[in-house]
Amino acid sequence: MNIKVCRNYDEMSEKAARMICAVMTLKPDCTLGLATGSTPVGMYKRLIAMYESGELDFSRVRSYNLDEYYPIKPTDPQSYRYFMNVNLFDHVNIDRANTHVPNGEAADPDAECRAYDEEVSRAGIDIQVLGIGRNGHIGFNEPSDRLTAATHLTALSESTIEANSRFFASPEEVPHHALTMGLAPIMKSKRIIILVSGKDKHDALSALLSGVIDTSVPATVLNMHPDVTVICDEAAYNG
Ligand code: F6R
Repeated sequence: MNIKVCRNYDEMSEKAARMICAVMTLKPDCTLGLATGSTPVGMYKRLIAMYESGELDFSRVRSYNLDEYYPIKPTDPQSYRYFMNVNLFDHVNIDRANTHVPNGEAADPDAECRAYDEEVSRAGIDIQVLGIGRNGHIGFNEPSDRLTAATHLTALSESTIEANSRFFASPEEVPHHALTMGLAPIMKSKRIIILVSGKDKHDALSALLSGVIDTSVPATVLNMHPDVTVICDEAAYNG
């Protein structure tokens, strides 16, 4: 596992954007695995700036997002589809048909998850961007004594509902379920970058860096992947 400790959030965001830029430059028709949440917002801002300056071209890029609340409409401002539109897709020349977020309105969520897995597997993710939950989740693969390989419908943990309530008017409004890419498709990505910012992620980051694989900190499975770069800030690293 490569570790890059950055001075602060801005430097972390810049480094992450540079890594995506390198992949897109080498392979203009690459497939990106994308995350939502507060951590990658700075990276998306830099990617938009690189597009505006002519450094990046998204016209042949495909993307697959990690997760979506369930049930939720794509037009709901709290949905991850909406988040991606506002934070990246609306500002770059990506073909909207080439962007994929699990369908939070699927009548049959299991079928939706199976189809998503098949598509991701066919596309092959060149670089997967991950954040990490305070509880060590990646995507919405929550701590448990059993982890699920395939993309699946999951109940969000109390800790995740509480952490995500900052985006909602009240904790009662946070959806209790989500569709999440499972650990298998995440681990099949050719390269993974995981962004970690802030003191409150220190324990999860320490567990990840300990090299011990522990299902109560799902991110620790990344220790089995051959090409993971942890990009963190000093606050997360030092605690
Ligand atoms: C989001 C996702 C989650 C977040 C994690 C951290 O698509 O998959 O695992 O990366 O909950 O969220 P923030 O960045 O808001 O702390």
